[in-house]
Amino acid sequence: MFYRNVVCLLIGLIVGVRLTDFCDYVKLQQPNRSVRQNYTNLTHTNTLTAAQDADTLPEYLFNTTRVLCWIMTMPENHLRRAVHIRNTWGRRCNKLLFMTTKDDSFLETVRLDVPEGRDYLWHKTRAAFNYISDHHLDDADWFLKADDDSYFIMENLRAFLYQFSPDAPVYFGCKFHPFVKQGYMSGGAGYVLSRAALRRFAEVASSNNSACSQTQLSEDKEMGICLQNAGVVAGDARDELGAERFHPLAPIHLIPVDTSEWYPLYLFYKRDKHLQCCSPSSISFHYIKPKEFYVLDYLLYVLRPFGVGSGASILPAKADMSTLLDKWKNELSDNILKEED
Ligand SMILES: *[C@@H]1O[C@H](CO)[C@@H](O)[C@H](O)[C@H]1NC(C)=O
Ligand SMILES: *[C@@H]1O[C@H](CO)[C@@H](O)[C@H](O)[C@H]1NC(C)=O
Ligand SMILES: *[C@@H]1O[C@H](CO)[C@@H](O)[C@H](O)[C@H]1NC(C)=O
Ligand SMILES: *[C@@H]1O[C@H](CO)[C@@H](O)[C@H](O)[C@H]1NC(C)=O
Repeated sequence: MFYRNVVCLLIGLIVGVRLTDFCDYVKLQQPNRSVRQNYTNLTHTNTLTAAQDADTLPEYLFNTTRVLCWIMTMPENHLRRAVHIRNTWGRRCNKLLFMTTKDDSFLETVRLDVPEGRDYLWHKTRAAFNYISDHHLDDADWFLKADDDSYFIMENLRAFLYQFSPDAPVYFGCKFHPFVKQGYMSGGAGYVLSRAALRRFAEVASSNNSACSQTQLSEDKEMGICLQNAGVVAGDARDELGAERFHPLAPIHLIPVDTSEWYPLYLFYKRDKHLQCCSPSSISFHYIKPKEFYVLDYLLYVLRPFGVGSGASILPAKADMSTLLDKWKNELSDNILKEED
């Protein structure tokens, strides 16, 4: 790692400063602190490069790990909730779509031809992903479904996804274990499909009614069954310590202690008692009120305690997808909870 960077730096000095930027981006390993320190000192010999790295990394990620976000909403929530997502975290998506059942020129919605109402959430999800597969497959590498009361930290989502290939059939979220062998992702926490996963979903959902049911049961469970039948693997989005990154609850439900009874029972990976509820690189929270979108934006992007740290800035190594998919495929749920509706 150290020698890679030295080589990169030397070549960079010869060829021009941009190459060191490039080498920084394609780091293959997470260096330990002292390597990072040495590396920092090295790049500081070229002050221009060092300054640019931190500044352009988010933009580089935005360009290379493109995320289309679609928001599950409904007519009465267009102005109550959806518009506030557009004003806050939705701005950080590469593309933002509002899926609903009515046209709205102010919000610029996509009107889906499905009945409105709680019973039809699965129909809406299915229609939304089919629409995106038909019209926007090439506009992004990853396709995120979020409720209109969810808040996403897009930088953390991209930094997490960066290591995975969008050509592998995989999806990520808060993995629950009942009902579906390989687990399924909580709808409220939101979930993200790779481009390959979206392709498979669209193929199977449009051609095979026994693989992707037409019933009106819970959206996330049906999606999980459908994706499992389509050969899409349910990935693990926890951090290095095993803390969840996608949360089906709000911070106030989880901090200082998890007050819900059902949530720990549903988790696919049992949580270590000593572990914090939420990863420092958390990606999503649910049950966020519209005004709180702005509060979270302020806390995360504006407020800075004097002299206190500055988030991670090193991208993870690119993963070997076939090994990972095999690993996750073989993690099966024991389905201890009985089906209930
Ligand atoms: C960092 O640099 C110091 C001094 O040049 C060297 O002794 C040390 O081995 C380096 N550490 C790593 C991990 O490369
Ligand atoms: C790198 O720079 C820091 C701050 O100037 C210094 O404390 C540290 O000893 C340097 N590390 C090496 C390996 O030169
Ligand atoms: C990101 O893409 C934009 C538009 O294509 C381009 O102007 C910009 O230089 C890119 N930035 C990085 C860091 O790759
Ligand atoms: C439809 O899906 C079912 C269940 O996954 C599977 O057994 C069947 O072979 C599929 N049919 C076709 C035509 O792909």
